[in-house]
Amino acid sequence: MDYHILKEIKEEHKKHGELIPKIEILFDEIRKDLDLKKLENLQKILKELKLELEEHFFKEESKLFPEIINKNNELLITNLENEHIQLLEVLSEIDRNISRILNGENIWIEFRHNIKEFLHILNDHILKEDYQLLPSIYT
Ligand SMILES: [Fe+2]
Ligand SMILES: [Fe+2]
Repeated sequence: MDYHILKEIKEEHKKHGELIPKIEILFDEIRKDLDLKKLENLQKILKELKLELEEHFFKEESKLFPEIINKNNELLITNLENEHIQLLEVLSEIDRNISRILNGENIWIEFRHNIKEFLHILNDHILKEDYQLLPSIYT
């Protein structure tokens, strides 16, 4: 096991976990004031997050999971890999939602649903990796 990779992964979980409440607050502000300038800013933040997540997921799938997979955690790892796909899909959907709103469409309900879904899955995903998957390495 490459402990440098493990350290990087944990640090990225911390960074992304801390971003979750910030995105939530930003969304609420945007929704309340219909602030399109802040919405553009959110789109930029989420585009950067998507690039970081793509790299992070690739690291896990190519370097972490193959090293640690065993009979006890293989189902968990399959679920985590499916969540990677799901998270990137919802993020793409959110990016399209934002562009549509910036173009004047009223799809706030759909947009809100996608944001809440994304943040919920991401939070849950990080918790599963930090508290279920990673502790299983040491046992
Ligand atoms: Fe992951
Ligand atoms: Fe992760």
